[in-house]
Amino acid sequence: MHILHVVGARPNFMKAAPVVAALQRRNRTRQSLVHTGQHYDFNMSDVFFQQLGMPAPNINLGVGSGSHARQTAEIMCSLETVLLERKPDLVLVYGDVNSTIAAALVCSKLLIPVAHVEAGLRSFDRSMPEEINRLLTDQISDLLFTPSADADENLLREGIAPEKIHFVGNVMIDTLIRLLPQTTQRSPNGSPERYALLTLHRPSNVDDSAVLSQILDSILQVCEDLAVIFPVHPRTRKQLSHVAENFQRLQLLEPLPYLEFLALQRHADVVITDSGGIQEETTYLGVPCLTVRESTERPVTVKMGTNIVIGRNMNRLRRELDSILNGRSKHGQIPPLWDGHAGERIAEVLI
Ligand code: UD1
Repeated sequence: MHILHVVGARPNFMKAAPVVAALQRRNRTRQSLVHTGQHYDFNMSDVFFQQLGMPAPNINLGVGSGSHARQTAEIMCSLETVLLERKPDLVLVYGDVNSTIAAALVCSKLLIPVAHVEAGLRSFDRSMPEEINRLLTDQISDLLFTPSADADENLLREGIAPEKIHFVGNVMIDTLIRLLPQTTQRSPNGSPERYALLTLHRPSNVDDSAVLSQILDSILQVCEDLAVIFPVHPRTRKQLSHVAENFQRLQLLEPLPYLEFLALQRHADVVITDSGGIQEETTYLGVPCLTVRESTERPVTVKMGTNIVIGRNMNRLRRELDSILNGRSKHGQIPPLWDGHAGERIAEVLI
């Protein structure tokens, strides 16, 4: 059996690594890896392959950045040629980025079975491009691997046949568990004893510099005595040049490699973010997380974990930050099957 994985953007790499490794261990399949090139900077792509020990992609489509339509269309055109040549028996797609839906669409038209890893998550906010990617990918996938029970419920409600759905747990946490021991040596030099770790890259938070400015302002007001470490996504970097001069107390960094970022998360007093994956990682690590979004597609991190969704309510942000910094943080549990073996369970189903 020939299994072809499609990855493209930063969060895909941590999700694909354990599945590739689990299939490799079983040695019963031929695998190939296609990188769409959606992310292309060294720090957004190559460094992850190095640190995760992933094989280099067999093919990089090199599509790069563009509008949603252009990026999705270019991935589709290039990938169609590759799939016609390579004729895989099954294609694996990951998460909710444009590369995910583009690949799933091409496969469904070529009648190549598709398996979606991290299926069923829903924010119920269709203004998020990722929500559209999730909904459509799930509708046209033949196998759906879910990270939490809420995802199964969402899929069943949308009419997906139960026999296609497999609750396997969280592949991103597989990678975290494997690499956590390596983080002890990776704390970036000179990081302060106590700090808040901040990441922001959602278009709704960063594309308007007035909104971005307001968020940063509130965080700095509360974190008066606390350093704020802020690795900046390229999308955010563009806007930050308009507002950065007011925020000299922020410790701005380039996007960090996986191990360095994990080391920072592990030791943070609080993580403030609008990322999806970081809500999960902080829940696993037991680190308080404040999510600067109106909704989350990962409700299990709120129900069971350390995550609090504060929306854009800056008063709430101040209140919650204040509680955390005064030692009154939420205690959480690790959700079921976030145990380091999700990749194994996927390999088992595939084989
Ligand atoms: C994408 C995903 C988002 C994910 C995020 C993680 C979609 C719709 N969005 O958002 O779900 O959380 O990745 O990072 O797929 N850029 C660079 N270098 C790069 C990549 C991007 O400079 O290597 C810049 C470009 O100016 C580009 C912008 O970042 O226009 C946005 O990149 P894009 O891939 O379109 O979306 P992200 O915001 O990264």
